[in-house]
Parts: sequence; structure tokens; C-alpha cells
Amino acid sequence: MKIFKIKEFLKLEKNEIRSIFNDHVVVLPTETVYGLASKIDCEATIKKIFDVKGRPSDNPLIVHISSLEMLDELIVGKISKEYHLLIKNFWPGPLSLVFESKNTISKTIRGQSLNTLVVRMPKCPMLREIINIVGVPLAMPSANSSGKPSPTSVHHVIDDLKDSVPFYIDGGECESGLESTIFGIVDSKNIIFRPGAVTKEQLEKILDRQVEIKPNSQSFGKFVCPGMKYKHYSPAHPLYMFQNDNWKENMIKLRKEHEDWKIGILMHSSQRYDEICFDYSYNLGNNLKECAKNVYAGLRYLDKTCDAIFISEFPIQDEGLAIMDRLLKASSYIIR
Ligand code: TXA
Ligand code: MG
Repeated sequence: MKIFKIKEFLKLEKNEIRSIFNDHVVVLPTETVYGLASKIDCEATIKKIFDVKGRPSDNPLIVHISSLEMLDELIVGKISKEYHLLIKNFWPGPLSLVFESKNTISKTIRGQSLNTLVVRMPKCPMLREIINIVGVPLAMPSANSSGKPSPTSVHHVIDDLKDSVPFYIDGGECESGLESTIFGIVDSKNIIFRPGAVTKEQLEKILDRQVEIKPNSQSFGKFVCPGMKYKHYSPAHPLYMFQNDNWKENMIKLRKEHEDWKIGILMHSSQRYDEICFDYSYNLGNNLKECAKNVYAGLRYLDKTCDAIFISEFPIQDEGLAIMDRLLKASSYIIR
């Protein structure tokens, strides 16, 4: 495998960059999490993404673009005034929008039964430059092994995918650390299909209306978000999520019942942990933004040394909504 710093990668001849993407999947940094990329017009490398990640074949991929001209090549229908507003305010950035797909787009990308395509324009200018040089949008899921926490540094990806990927592009730590928000207006309803780095509050402010959050198991009209039905984001060791005001008593109780376990705590914000006897800790940060940035790194760090990971709940607001969405999916046990 070859690992390039993103700046070094961009010093290669343009033809060399193009020929790498013609034949291979490539790990790329984004502002949300690392992704595993393939050109959207290359069926062999798109299929390779599913092989390398161990991803179920009915879980479609988000398409990443570097310009609005690229969007025109992907979708049918006019862009609504609401989408124009969102694009103006959040692109380039961590907002993925649901569009009606041209039927020329591979069904391996958009799912066999879906006529939708989820598209975003990533924030990192160097990543957009790579897409620009390649000249074709990139399909790119998070670069973790399926089911594992998403990777927010290139080392996380190497831990998961090792030499099954020939090219790793290192852009340092991801800025927001949580995946993009997936939003769509479907049957006149404003729906968040996956909470993420752009918050519900930010969307509501720009659209000047309330938006709904799709419950995980529910499909919405003809639109479903297939990925949300799988177990996700999970460390190898059990994660215990403690909810409600009695979280600390419950942590202490479980600790006493399992004195032989090595317990790691993901600490956050104003919580105090002094009375709990634990073996390792990882401080996620002092506010929801910092916690969002660090939550996957914290899960991966404690997973290497602990038998069990404990965490108390976050408030369901701002980035807390997406953090709790991920942690509840990652949890083996929810203790109330
Ligand atoms: O921040 C992100 O969005 C990252 C970075 C790499 O850009 N990508 C990412 O991709 O999180 P992935 O594959 O890990 O998650 C994509 C989610 C899945 O739950 C998938 O089911 C849903 O988006 N999705 C993608 N295309 C879809 C489509 N056409 N229809 C329905 N759901 C779709
Ligand atoms: Mg993912």
C-alpha cells in the first residue's frame, strides 16, 4: 500500500492521479470522516468498495462532487428553491441531499430499487481539487469495515482495511468527526434521514420551518435509507449506554458486579466521574462539537484496551442528536 499526504498527492502529474482512480479504490479524507472512493462510472472499482468494506450490496453510496455542473449530470428535475437555499448555505460542507437520480447512474451506487441519489459537495478544497482532476464524481462511503466506528484519521482506516486498499491519502484528523447529515424533501415533507454534522437547528433556521427526523426502522413513501437498518458504529467490546439521572449509580453498580473487567469511560462535558472506579478514560471534550469530533476516535481507543466501554447520555440537541443516534446504534446495552 502507498500512503500520501494530501498535498504530496496533489503534486503528482494529473494523468497519474487519473490513472490511479481508473484502476483502484482510494482512501480519501473529508471534513466528516474518511471515505473509500471510486469513480461513479467504473463498475469494477464500485464493486470493490463493497468487497473491501464487507458492505451489504443493498446499501447505496453517497456521490461526492466538486462543482454544480457535476450535479446536473447526475439528477433529473429542477432543483427546488429550498434545495437552492440549502446549497447556498451548506455547500461545500457536510450536508447530503436526496435527489431523483438519472437512470444512467449505476444501480450498484443507488441501490437496485431506488430512483434516488444522495449527493454532497465536500468542504476540503484539496479533496474537491482531486475530484476536479479525476473529472468524474466519486462514490464514497465511510472507510471503516462495515459495522465498525467510522474512521476520523488515516490510521483508523489502516487498522480496518490494511493492505486491501492500495492508496491511502492522509489529510490529518477530520474536522467534524461525524458523517454528513442526509436531508431530503420527499412528498413535500422535510426529513432528516440521518442526523449528522449539520444540525437540525441549523437546517430549520435556514429553511424557516420545522424538519422531521425519520425514525430508523421506518421507510418514507418510496424513499428508504437502507443503511440505517444495519448494526453500525460498534466497537468489538460491548458499549454500555447509561441514560437518565441515575446513570452514575448504575455505572457504580455494574462496576461492582464485574470487578475483573477492564472498564473504559468516554467522559464528556460537565459530568463528574470521581466516585466511579474505572481503568481507562478518554475525554471527548467540553462541548457537543468537540464530543462529536472525538466520539469515534474515543470508541476506537478504548476498544483496544478495555473489556467494556461506559458512556452516559448526551442531550438531544445540536450535535447531541447525531452523537446519540450513533451511540445508541453502537451500544450493546442501554441501562436506564
Ligand atoms: O459524511 C459522509 O456522508 C461520509 C463521507 C465519506 O462523505 N460518507 C458516508 O457514507 O457516511 P456511508 O455510506 O457510510 O453512509 C451513507 C448512508 C447510508 O446509510 C446509505 O444507506 C444512505 O446514506 N444512502 C446513500 N445513498 C442513498 C440513496 N440513493 N437512497 C437512500 N439512501 C442512501
Ligand atoms: Mg458509514
